[in-house]
Amino acid sequence: MATQQKSFSSNLGAIMAAVGSAVGLGNIWRFPYTCGKYGGGAFLLVYLCFVFLLGSVLMMSEFVIGRRSQHTPIKAFGTLRPDRKGWMLVGVLGVVTSFFILSQYLVLSGWTTGYVWDAALGTLGSLGTDAAAISDYFTAFSTDAWRPALFLGVFSLLVLAVILGGVQKGIENVSKVLMPVLVLLILVLCVKSLTLPGAGKGVEYLFSADFSKLTGEGVLAALGQALFSLSVGMGVMIVYGSYIPLSDNIFKTAMWITVCDTLIAVLAGLAIFPAVFSCGLDPAGGPGLVFCVLPNVFNLMGGAGTVFAVLFFVLLTVAALTSAISLLEALTATFCEHTHASRTAGALLFFGLTTALGLVFSLSMGSLSHVTVNNLTLFDFVDRLNSIYLPPLCALFAIIFFGWVMPEEAVKDELSNHGTLRIGFYPVLRFLARYVVPLALLVVIVSGILS
Ligand code: TRP
Repeated sequence: MATQQKSFSSNLGAIMAAVGSAVGLGNIWRFPYTCGKYGGGAFLLVYLCFVFLLGSVLMMSEFVIGRRSQHTPIKAFGTLRPDRKGWMLVGVLGVVTSFFILSQYLVLSGWTTGYVWDAALGTLGSLGTDAAAISDYFTAFSTDAWRPALFLGVFSLLVLAVILGGVQKGIENVSKVLMPVLVLLILVLCVKSLTLPGAGKGVEYLFSADFSKLTGEGVLAALGQALFSLSVGMGVMIVYGSYIPLSDNIFKTAMWITVCDTLIAVLAGLAIFPAVFSCGLDPAGGPGLVFCVLPNVFNLMGGAGTVFAVLFFVLLTVAALTSAISLLEALTATFCEHTHASRTAGALLFFGLTTALGLVFSLSMGSLSHVTVNNLTLFDFVDRLNSIYLPPLCALFAIIFFGWVMPEEAVKDELSNHGTLRIGFYPVLRFLARYVVPLALLVVIVSGILS
């Protein structure tokens, strides 16, 4: 391939940026409650299989498509098979998916930013240990028009600032600082949580396998979570793939990211469940686990609780930030490649559009809750779209392209860095990519439609 236009400066930089994309609210907020709901250790086991057998393969395929083509998603498909331009539609679908995910992600990130503020000012602390008061506070906050909008705006501006900084100076440098900070924060919280009296029950909850709770629905949830957590199925990893230095080993890079992402999800579980059990609270709080159950846990800790509450919500916000950055980068880079607009113009445009749509989704919790699609509020509708339909569909097309359409020589050449690396894993990868992954994705999509 020709010289690279834009790229990360090193393998470490590429890994940090991609781990930043993968580690997000999905790891710290969604993984623990999903795991709790479907039987703890049993879910974890299935999740691990999906992440390593399917998720990492999808990530590798997106990296190969991105780095081989040196283009953003739409052109990437077109370049790799110039005779089959129709595949460019998969890139379009990916970009649309990124757009919706970012708009929705901004809403949740705005909440976490708001909770940093509320924890620091002692507002959360003043709610005491009355579970009803805490959850009423959350309902009042999330259905309000102005406060979520304000924090959403603040968060989006942070994302914009990093994108304007560029690929190396913005994304890579910020990720290299924030990822270690994130790991440090999560370790501090784990130590605190694991040393609370009665913490053992929380560890047991996470690791003891209760297969009776693992329904078919749980298996599907594990697969959906594996895709979501690794940020695959929307072309973002195609864009990051195009920034991976040409000398890097794609297989190893993808494996590192998969391992880090999984470890952080498990650590998040260890930071949350032991503390929740130690306080005698119910962990099966669903999405409310982080915003309703945890503030109660912090308040039960007394004075130090405020500090841990701030640390926790900073952790969530940092995780969300690096994910949102990758989404805005993918949109900006794609737009700029097609229009030749400046990076600043592209970033501002998509910052504006996703923030505006995010505000609409935010309002759909409160004053716009009467606007519904299929009996769902706009937020719930886009949530379904983003979790059940669009990413698996995109991932399915991308893996079919990788396994069946893209010239095999190009795949091998890219994975082996033009024959300089040994790729003994290739036959297994090819089998997974051609048969196992597409079939699994098909099952997810069909069952999503039927449910
Ligand atoms: N992986 C992110 C998380 O765990 C969420 C996510 C899904 C995402 N798809 C993405 C982030 C694409 C960035 C880009 O929270």
